[in-house]
Amino acid sequence: MTQPHLVMIGCGRMGGALLTQWLATGAWKAPVSVVKPTESLPAELKGHHLVRWIPSLAELPADTPPSVVVLAVKPQTLPHSLPLCASVFGSDVPYFTIAAGKRLTFYQQHLGERLRLIRLMPNTPSLIGMGMTAMLASPHAADTDHELAEALMRAVGEVVWVPDEQLLDVATAVAGSGPAYVFYFMECLISAAIDAGLDEATARLMVVQTLHGSSELAYLSGEPLAVLRHDVTSPGGTTEAALSHLMRPSGQLRLMQDAIAAALQRAQDLAATAQ
Ligand SMILES: NC(=O)c1ccc[n+]([C@@H]2O[C@H](COP(=O)([O-])OP(=O)(O)OC[C@H]3O[C@@H](n4cnc5c(N)ncnc54)[C@H](OP(=O)(O)O)[C@@H]3O)[C@@H](O)[C@H]2O)c1
Repeated sequence: MTQPHLVMIGCGRMGGALLTQWLATGAWKAPVSVVKPTESLPAELKGHHLVRWIPSLAELPADTPPSVVVLAVKPQTLPHSLPLCASVFGSDVPYFTIAAGKRLTFYQQHLGERLRLIRLMPNTPSLIGMGMTAMLASPHAADTDHELAEALMRAVGEVVWVPDEQLLDVATAVAGSGPAYVFYFMECLISAAIDAGLDEATARLMVVQTLHGSSELAYLSGEPLAVLRHDVTSPGGTTEAALSHLMRPSGQLRLMQDAIAAALQRAQDLAATAQ
């Protein structure tokens, strides 16, 4: 029986953060080969007893068939990496990919119709173990592939499986891009606070801690969000005065709907031109 062995192709900001957490939490406990052109690795991985750096797939020892190949390069690098993967590993190993936007048909063109692929879409809070990952499996992925993907991604936060690529686009628009919307909301609230007289450092602390506390309350509480909102809103009070602006017909709900629709349209356009 072969020893468990993970091969990660590319190991930058997102791949490096995932691998660091997988090893630190014990979600992955076996040897890892990191294949990337330069030797630079995140500090936690440099010198790690389970991690070895290999500059190219051609130099991977042939006697170490991987348990899983994790694709963590930029999407534009995949047309270069996948033919190499096909010749070195074939299609009968599980491939996990974090590349945004590339469809199953794209991978099938390079790795064969029956490939075992799981598309993982983590978001940047995964960097601190508080991620949200949406996952989609190809039809020929094995149960063991599902189990391994889920165990690895649970080590960096919450996971949900989606049944098709359309819903993976929705998950990407909501949770993948979501941190950017939240950061922009925070920037807006800080800007309004400064306009109203607070200094920048105080405004930032107030806004960041308010978002942090509110998120934690929503996460821990079983209450619907509308109930939590009502708890803060006295009839005729100051919160209600502010919400009357946010909740007007052209307000925040409409803006979010338009934003998600724009992200979905862009995902479709990119998919149509990227195959
Ligand atoms: N950042 C996010 O929020 C996020 C979220 C979800 C998914 N993703 C996906 O994660 C993937 C990686 O993004 P990232 O932000 O981690 O990118 P990144 O920091 O630029 O990392 C890219 C990695 O690819 C390596 N690389 C470049 N050419 C290569 C080649 N020919 N063979 C093997 N490795 C090669 C680079 O190695 P060198 O350093 O040696 O050049 C680097 O380690 C992307 O596909 C992206 O869509 C990112």
